[in-house]
Amino acid sequence: LFAAVEMAPRDPILGLTESFNADTRSTKVNLGVGVYFDDNGKIPLLAAVKAAEKTRLEAMPPRGYQPIDGLAAYNQIVQKLLFGADSALLEAGQVATIEALGGTGALKVGADYLRRLLPTAKVFISDPSWENHRAIFEYAGFEVDSYPYYDAVSRGVDFAAMKSGLNALPAGSIVVLHACCHNPTGADLSHAQWREVIETIAARGLVAFIDMAYQGFADGIREDAQALQMFAASGLQFLVASSFSKSFSLYGERVGALSVVTASRDETARVLSQIKRVVRANYSNPPTHGGAIVAAVLASAELRQMWKVELAEMRQRILAMRVSLVEKLQGRGVSTDFSFVTRQRGMFSYTGLEVAQVDRMRDEFGIYAVSTGRICLAALNTRNIDYVADAIAAVL
Ligand code: LMR
Repeated sequence: LFAAVEMAPRDPILGLTESFNADTRSTKVNLGVGVYFDDNGKIPLLAAVKAAEKTRLEAMPPRGYQPIDGLAAYNQIVQKLLFGADSALLEAGQVATIEALGGTGALKVGADYLRRLLPTAKVFISDPSWENHRAIFEYAGFEVDSYPYYDAVSRGVDFAAMKSGLNALPAGSIVVLHACCHNPTGADLSHAQWREVIETIAARGLVAFIDMAYQGFADGIREDAQALQMFAASGLQFLVASSFSKSFSLYGERVGALSVVTASRDETARVLSQIKRVVRANYSNPPTHGGAIVAAVLASAELRQMWKVELAEMRQRILAMRVSLVEKLQGRGVSTDFSFVTRQRGMFSYTGLEVAQVDRMRDEFGIYAVSTGRICLAALNTRNIDYVADAIAAVL
């Protein structure tokens, strides 16, 4: 049965973690995966999460099945975080939300649903995009292509190319957009550019599927949801995959959500019923713990405030690492101007390092980066940053 099965290539991101874990060098640094580490190089367990977990553990709740769409209190709180507590869309019942297995799980459920709804549509992702976007939509059965996004010369968005690319897409195409902290480039659209994108999507009859995995890592929870608010105000129907992996440091709990904005309360009920079928046929219903913890934190004024402060600390530490890396590279006489690193948002920098340079960093220094040159700034700390700056300077 399996005699002719070929070895699949390692995952471009999680495969790096596998290699990193197998590396025995004590100086190794994993700048591959998008995970936040604190200044001690540890993945934090947030104090707000710890407090909610303590209460939950003491209550020793039974572990019955969740509803297919997950915890209702969680879904409602997610909607408010995305669209605002006073959202007209929520008031009108125009959003269907399900608890999903992280942002990836939300994308997958949304992709499976869209494949049934729009079987002949093509999916367009940004060039470049998160490596897994293509795989998720291809595995759902879609043909996946890209629209222009990044300009390697300006290290920003080539907005004219993006707009004309979107304008050329056939009506009904699905366009995957990054709400904030674009992965992998860190180059985001301005509000004015979002407005134009939304106009183009409306004019061309495109379907937006917005990925928001890093809410709170650019400017703040509310600020980073600005693009969503603009979509919400546009009257368009669209999908959002969101995640608490990063913002709650709950990676392994797989806590995310898929939200679908419809035209009416009645549509919401019908769409939700179809999405629940997709979930039931995939994994039946989501696990209990992570969603319950997020819901408990966000429902408590005290824990919510604690979480906001902790999230701001993570955001600010990454910014400090950005500034420090640029200074340290300058200090090592590197001729390339790396000041763009401080303009990029979120966890990543698209450094421009080439494959051979990334390979050398790994082989000679035990520093792991994605082969595209993406590095995760959230893995830098005051103890490894000099070593990383040395390595970058050496391979340049
Ligand atoms: C990343 O881009 O590194 C993260 O989103 C983790 C992942 O699942 O790839």
